[in-house]
Amino acid sequence: MSAQKIHVDSYERNWMIISFVLLVVFALAVSVAAFGLGIQVPAPEQRVDPRTVATDPNSPWSNPGLREVSAGVYDAYILARAVPNWEYLPKEITIPVGSKVTFYVTSPDVQHGFKIQDTNANFMVLPGQVSKLTITFSKAGTYNFICTEFCGSGHGVMYGAVIVK
Ligand code: CUA
Repeated sequence: MSAQKIHVDSYERNWMIISFVLLVVFALAVSVAAFGLGIQVPAPEQRVDPRTVATDPNSPWSNPGLREVSAGVYDAYILARAVPNWEYLPKEITIPVGSKVTFYVTSPDVQHGFKIQDTNANFMVLPGQVSKLTITFSKAGTYNFICTEFCGSGHGVMYGAVIVK
């Protein structure tokens, strides 16, 4: 049996080449973003029980707030809730310029959002899951954060701020 030559129209062949080049370009762009620019995709960090996450004394969200891990490095445990009031606990955190803060945010009730103005932090907060993202605040100022998922009648008053001094 002799090999048959498949006829590929030049128009079709050119589009196959362009498609392949595009795949390579996209793969490179994703690699540069992930490894070169350090862009992170917020991923579920851990599972928690939403019924006890705010009250269990062993849960960091029973006493939400800032913990200094080392000089200039902080963990921020934030609770986003709708009951009894639509709010973030704590509503405000204050840190020195240059601080690197890892946010651990969860909800004891419904789905919320967490977006910090002028940063790339913008993720969903789901009951039962912990959302985690690290941000370095290299400029002084007030960085407001807001809820970006509709969570009920008090959604519009769900906000807070990171104050960088
Ligand atoms: Cu919480 Cu909208």
